[in-house]
Amino acid sequence: MMKTLITGAYGQLAKEFIASIKGDVYSFDADKLDITEEKAVFEAVNAYKPDFLINCAAYNNVDKAETDYDNAFKVNALSLKYFARACERYKTKIIHFSTDFVFPGKTEKVPYRETELPNPVNKYGQSKLEGEKLLSSNYENYSIFRVSWLYGQGTQNFPFKLKNWAKDKKELKIAEDEVSVPTPTSLVSGIVNKSLDLKGVWHLCCKGFASRYEWALKIAKKENISVKIIGARQADFGLPAKRPQFSAMDSSKLESEIGVKFPYWTEFYE
Ligand SMILES: NC(=O)c1ccc[n+]([C@@H]2O[C@H](COP(=O)([O-])OP(=O)(O)OC[C@H]3O[C@@H](n4cnc5c(N)ncnc54)[C@H](OP(=O)(O)O)[C@@H]3O)[C@@H](O)[C@H]2O)c1
Repeated sequence: MMKTLITGAYGQLAKEFIASIKGDVYSFDADKLDITEEKAVFEAVNAYKPDFLINCAAYNNVDKAETDYDNAFKVNALSLKYFARACERYKTKIIHFSTDFVFPGKTEKVPYRETELPNPVNKYGQSKLEGEKLLSSNYENYSIFRVSWLYGQGTQNFPFKLKNWAKDKKELKIAEDEVSVPTPTSLVSGIVNKSLDLKGVWHLCCKGFASRYEWALKIAKKENISVKIIGARQADFGLPAKRPQFSAMDSSKLESEIGVKFPYWTEFYE
């Protein structure tokens, strides 16, 4: 029977894996397995000797990471070195997630391929890129799926936040100059389940792309949110972290590798 260890178990992506992975699943969030504790990581891997370790734990607060880089680095980067060392003995396959924010953003609206060079514009992106490097330089049996604008169960996603903001406002300003690809967590878990044998770095998101503003309009329509949505610029919000203006990714390498056509992001709003 296949054994899988899942970290960051309370997160939105982990929930999908816990519900869909075949075989025995051992899932823990920070209260039971803090991935920044090297000893705890070793003990967990030694105790369960998993075939797969799916790392869904992450420091995802993009703005806070600007002033809290040490912690962002520990969670998003250093932990990958611990996983690599701990997994060596049992040849456990490490499945890890990274982000479109490893890219700087471009003016020409052509989605990023795996061959393009990362160069993050914020500390969160930097910590995630360091995680990719620490995994790939310390281990061989891994896959990294770069995903973008995830939404699923729970409160840590844009559709939930939009609904919440709309509760006590008549109008909402949403950025038009931030473009990427909204991607449901269920799509990511479904595709990863079909890609367990793959190694290396893969882009995994829906087809097409949207600005935050365009996505907000679709969410509002689908959820019958009556708030007025007004296009704005990132600069209007004065947020600590800079975001790439266009960081959409192209997943066609993964599509052709596994022979599956990915849906357009808009298909989830029809
Ligand atoms: N969400 C997105 O839009 C997005 C975009 C691009 C890439 N990604 C990547 O996709 C993956 C999954 O993201 P997600 O949206 O499912 O994240 P999520 O919902 O924020 O879940 C992350 C989980 O990790 C936990 N965690 C934080 N520090 C930990 C630690 N030291 N030890 C163990 N667990 C810890 C968090 O607990 P607390 O909540 O208590 O901190 C949370 O339960 C991550 O690698 C993320 O970087 C996400």
